[in-house]
Amino acid sequence: MNMAAHIAAHGGWVSNELFMELALYHESEGYYSRNVTDIGPRGDFSTAATMSSLPARRLVQHWSECCRALGRTLPIIEIGGGNASLALAIYRALGFWRRLRTRYYMVERSPALRALQTLACGNFLRVFPSMQKALKHADGCAFIFCNELPDAFPARRLIHRADSWQELGWELRPDASIVQSARPCRQLPASSVFSQPLPEGQIVEVHESYHRWYTEWQALWKCGCFVTMDYGEPVDTLYHRRPHGTLRGYKAHTLLSPDELPALAGHCDITADVNFTDLLQLAQRNTGDIVQLLTQRDYLLPCANLSDPAEAHLLRCPGAGDHFRVLIQNRFAVQ
Ligand SMILES: C[S@@+](CC[C@H](N)C(=O)[O-])C[C@H]1O[C@@H](n2cnc3c(N)ncnc32)[C@H](O)[C@@H]1O
Repeated sequence: MNMAAHIAAHGGWVSNELFMELALYHESEGYYSRNVTDIGPRGDFSTAATMSSLPARRLVQHWSECCRALGRTLPIIEIGGGNASLALAIYRALGFWRRLRTRYYMVERSPALRALQTLACGNFLRVFPSMQKALKHADGCAFIFCNELPDAFPARRLIHRADSWQELGWELRPDASIVQSARPCRQLPASSVFSQPLPEGQIVEVHESYHRWYTEWQALWKCGCFVTMDYGEPVDTLYHRRPHGTLRGYKAHTLLSPDELPALAGHCDITADVNFTDLLQLAQRNTGDIVQLLTQRDYLLPCANLSDPAEAHLLRCPGAGDHFRVLIQNRFAVQ
């Protein structure tokens, strides 16, 4: 992708949020619009869903519990299903009879991935471009889940100066190089991170675009459960020993630093850790919902077969089990 041309078209500087929006979701050149097969062991990054059937089995168990609690068979809505690994694993975990009476909806932003998911799963799933459309088809009640979704939303990046926060972005230099540079911040995003005692020079990310997106469809969701699985932490530990924040890229399983991103924009994944305190607080705004934050290890354990090396690895290897979190939002009183 010619990121320099995109930055020039925006006046020579773009915020990190716009940089990620272009690099990941530009309609023809964005990573998720083009590189549709690069998730998994042979791609740029692996997710739990592409490594083992355990997350699928646990989600099916959780869906059954939720259906029992509400006394009805809830449709399943997966958001941001990538190459459909998790949808296919859920297809298998449901088994023949439950599959027959279960509606499975996928919400996917990338048209190329929507086509891939339809091809991979056939009649089992129905794909929608937005939560609003999927919830309408589900009549408002659903078991909703996503794996590694919030981290893939464009994030604002801010740097702490002596008496203020500045917005970090990307500047096009006269020699055509693209460098990180800060501008005065017009309006701070709402985030728990600003109440932390952070040192001068600390860089933080805020997934404000995810917060907006989440808020947009909450009123349409009448009942069920929403499970969010991703890497990240509560705010009080998120930036421990991370003065430069958590923005990074992945290409062929190699970690890329922020400075390497402009040259590979459109050809690598770009991500930042999720501030789960922000997500928890957003969910708690919906009074009446019961909200719980777990490590992925604690969430998956009830279904784990520890004699299976892939499952044991998923739970034990540093990072996979405890750097990943699961946020559960139960809405059992129909709204
Ligand atoms: C990091 S990938 C995760 C893929 C998959 N869930 C997995 O675990 O392998 C992020 C996915 O979220 C999708 N996505 C990003 N923003 C979205 C949005 N607003 N609505 C639906 N899908 C979105 C991307 O296109 C991509 O499929």
